[in-house]
Amino acid sequence: MSSLSEAGVAGMATDGAEAAFGAAPPLYFLSSATDAGRIEACSGTRTVSDAERAQFSYDANAILPRDDWRKAALRKWDHPEPWAFSDQRFNCVALLHCPDRLLRLIAPIRSGRTRPDLELMQDAMGDICTIQGPVHIHGIIHNAPGDPTVTIDHHAKRRIGLHVDNWDKQNIDKRRLSPNRICINVGECTRIFLFVPIEIGSVVSILRAAGIDVRASPRPTALGRLFLHRYPNVPVLRVPVDPGCAYIAPTETLIHDASTAQMTKVDYQLTIRGYVDARAGQGDVYVCAFA
Ligand SMILES: [Fe+2]
Repeated sequence: MSSLSEAGVAGMATDGAEAAFGAAPPLYFLSSATDAGRIEACSGTRTVSDAERAQFSYDANAILPRDDWRKAALRKWDHPEPWAFSDQRFNCVALLHCPDRLLRLIAPIRSGRTRPDLELMQDAMGDICTIQGPVHIHGIIHNAPGDPTVTIDHHAKRRIGLHVDNWDKQNIDKRRLSPNRICINVGECTRIFLFVPIEIGSVVSILRAAGIDVRASPRPTALGRLFLHRYPNVPVLRVPVDPGCAYIAPTETLIHDASTAQMTKVDYQLTIRGYVDARAGQGDVYVCAFA
């Protein structure tokens, strides 16, 4: 096992997290070397401030990344692509460049002249990934520019910060059976995907090993918050997703959110949930956990 610093993730955990992560399976990241060089990490997380609560309508318990972003030098994985093993889907994030025929379909959507032909787009996506059912097409979702994080609890009308999706409402011990998602940036500005590089099953194992009763927090976002409170020096990764690029992520097993903080125009993204696997040969695989 290598240390946090060898893994290249910014910030040394001083709260015992490093030892806890030693036994956790790694989180794999697939991308080109150029894209991997643009990924940043921060030193940990913090509870939202009163000023942010007032300005952006955050939930009082929302947790955000710290702002000390620096380049994350991820460690290259020189073994078979984890995407070759479908049971690793819950442990993989990928950043992909959409093929030309998909970009040609995206262009009119971006200009607002036409609605997307989702069937054609899904077919064109076959160049970069396979999607097996059940497939749920969320369509084009838009977010305002300038927000630190985008996800809102529409019942409470509050921004929730770093969270774990709960579309499938799977029991926490069966989360790895949940679908993942592909999310294409169909807008004009680079958007940001944020994630904590450890899957929720490992989060639960670490909390249980620390003697923390996880039954009191059955919902995945509550578990994620419990974990980040206990280990506030766990870094968050920050992935720029350019227009015409897509990420695949297991958002039902990953603490994550997106950010439009640095965008100057409305964020448009197309999300499809299903069992999405990146096709081989689209870059290198990096390890961004602490193994
Ligand atoms: Fe989410």
